[in-house]
Amino acid sequence: MRTELPPAVATALAEARRIVVFTGAGMSAESGVPTFRDDLTGLWARFDAEQLATPEAFQADPDLVWGWYEWRRARVRRAAPNAGHLAVAELETRVPGTVVITQNVDDLHERAGSRAPVHLHGSLFAPRCTGAAAHPADVPDPGADPGEGGRLTPPGCAQCGAPVRPGVVWFGEALPRAALTTAIDAASDCDVLLTVGTSGMVYPAAEIPRIAMLTGATVIQVNPDPTPLDAVCAANLRGTAAQVLPALVAAAQR
Ligand code: APR
Repeated sequence: MRTELPPAVATALAEARRIVVFTGAGMSAESGVPTFRDDLTGLWARFDAEQLATPEAFQADPDLVWGWYEWRRARVRRAAPNAGHLAVAELETRVPGTVVITQNVDDLHERAGSRAPVHLHGSLFAPRCTGAAAHPADVPDPGADPGEGGRLTPPGCAQCGAPVRPGVVWFGEALPRAALTTAIDAASDCDVLLTVGTSGMVYPAAEIPRIAMLTGATVIQVNPDPTPLDAVCAANLRGTAAQVLPALVAAAQR
């Protein structure tokens, strides 16, 4: 099914020299990776975010938290990039300098061929040591899959023996400074920002499309459902990442 684009959207993409693609969990939904807030299928529908995605949760029950992230990592390992991820990688070829900013902690953008996605919330594939140095920790990949809700004791850091933690940003933690600065700079300097598959509810990441709009970019949303970002967007394309992104990329100038 070919998505028909509104003429203004097609024109904006054809003329764009600097494009940012900002993605959320919906980007990976068609790869079988659960989102967070979708009713029933979302991770938070089945798990309590506060119980799992916070430093306090890891401190209180490291086996539960580590097991949850290893289960998610095993699921991602079994998933494949979808047509939306592949379209984003194609866009980077068509419009050099395209910047991909993602809230996702999976590696599907990378596996689709995106060169250097900016991970605002870290990565399932970058566990790190809880010791003072917080150095990257080598964890066998794919690690054991404890199954949904399974428990797994976090391994000890090979360098210092301190427990290893997931390399993701938890609620209450600061985003990686370099990633956030890169994202803000890119959003401030683009002609078009595509926001794809995010509910736009978690800050400061949710500021990125707003920064683009405030600095004169055309913001285009791809999401089957309305979100708080609707008001920021010049166009709200009610479709999925895998359905709509290939048409958007085809409209971008080569
Ligand atoms: N294509 C496009 N969008 C989709 C698709 C799809 N196939 N399926 C679902 N969506 C949309 C949903 O309508 C929803 O608006 O994706 C959005 C997913 O929203 P969330 O589950 O809230 O995920 P996200 O916006 O990425 O959450 C942001 O919150 O929990 C924290 O750190 C976590 O990075 C995450 C952040």
